[in-house]
Amino acid sequence: MVSQVRVAGVGMTPFGKSPERTAREMFGDAADEAFEDAGVDPDDVEEVFYGNFMGEFAEQQGHQGPLAASAAGVRAPATRIESACASSGVAVRMGVEKIRSGAADVVLVGGAERMTNLSTADGTAALAAAADALYEINAGVTFPGAYSLMANRYFEEYGGDREDLAHVAVKNHDHAVDNELAQFQMEITVEKVLDAVQVCSPFGLFDCSPMSDGGSAAVLVSEAFAEEHGLDASVAITGTGQASDSLALHDRESITGTPAAAEAAQMAYDDAGVTPDDVDVAEVHDCFTIAEVLAIESLGFFGKGEGITVAREGKTAIDGELPVNLSGGLKAKGHPVGATGGAQISEMTKMLRGDHVNSDAVSDATVGLTHNAGGTVASCVVNVLEVVE
Ligand code: COA
Repeated sequence: MVSQVRVAGVGMTPFGKSPERTAREMFGDAADEAFEDAGVDPDDVEEVFYGNFMGEFAEQQGHQGPLAASAAGVRAPATRIESACASSGVAVRMGVEKIRSGAADVVLVGGAERMTNLSTADGTAALAAAADALYEINAGVTFPGAYSLMANRYFEEYGGDREDLAHVAVKNHDHAVDNELAQFQMEITVEKVLDAVQVCSPFGLFDCSPMSDGGSAAVLVSEAFAEEHGLDASVAITGTGQASDSLALHDRESITGTPAAAEAAQMAYDDAGVTPDDVDVAEVHDCFTIAEVLAIESLGFFGKGEGITVAREGKTAIDGELPVNLSGGLKAKGHPVGATGGAQISEMTKMLRGDHVNSDAVSDATVGLTHNAGGTVASCVVNVLEVVE
């Protein structure tokens, strides 16, 4: 029988600017917290999957798997997963599959990224390496640029405008106000978003996730291990899915949808035996405001062309029909790219356990979803988490 995978413990550093801290230090801190939360000894870990994207650029450090394991006090096979901004989402999925295969009972997953020791220009160039070097990078495309192409085309095909996008940013900043781990704990207004300095039309400063430093970790265990050791592990990852798309935007039939997210979601829903209607709360990859719109449509929460107005209508707010990004999302919590997918698991696990600062808003929630994307969603991982006891 396939083993059910429990999230025994989670941890993450505060996200923000800490340019002096190395990725290994940040992952070590997140892992220490996850072990303490889990009540699991690092000696019990049988495998480590660690997400990191730009270590070579930011720290001249490759071969980070063993480095991450040592920082966590673990001696076990350790692999670095690089899948751009989806690196630690993929690491989580690898951990789930390892336990389900029966090859391990305890796996440490997560990731870390150090970004703010670079200038914005150098960080932008490093991030751009997740695009197609031959066709996109050579043409000067950066990620704000690529997503702005998607936003402008979306406006043309489905309507909507900058003000609709501004509501996504305002909502996610609102959600982060009490989240002490978030990079920006401040409210903003639609006017402030619209008046902000322009980054790349139609995006202003507040349409973009920031450059961030941070680490995240989770201790995943088999149900049998949790029972044997009397662990308090009430949340399980019951569904996981992953899909890819062409790296370059020009190779796609349409740039107003993210089919890799739809495919990863369907896989995860089928795996968990749930539908989009069953999801009570979601953490999605809002690296730019338009990315949240595309995500909630691809995940099947809203129809094509409908996602653009739902933040304005309050449907995805803390008191809405489907709260999205209660952590503050990438926009306000921050986006240290290699740590983001693991942080979504950390925040969602706490949300479902009832010990997140925003848990009260979703106290009846039993099903949560995390959506973590790489590049312009050329990689996507969706995980379904459920309260199982
Ligand atoms: N949202 C809100 N405030 C932000 C911010 C953001 N995204 N980015 C920076 N700030 C704030 C800083 O905290 C700072 O405030 P302070 O003066 O009160 O300290 C101020 O704006 C200037 O910060 P700075 O780092 O100099 O900004 P910048 O103009 O160099 O960079 C962006 C801003 C938006 C260009 C940069 O954050 C960026 O490139 N983001 C996208 C990252 C990305 O592409 N990630 C991968 C996604 S696929």
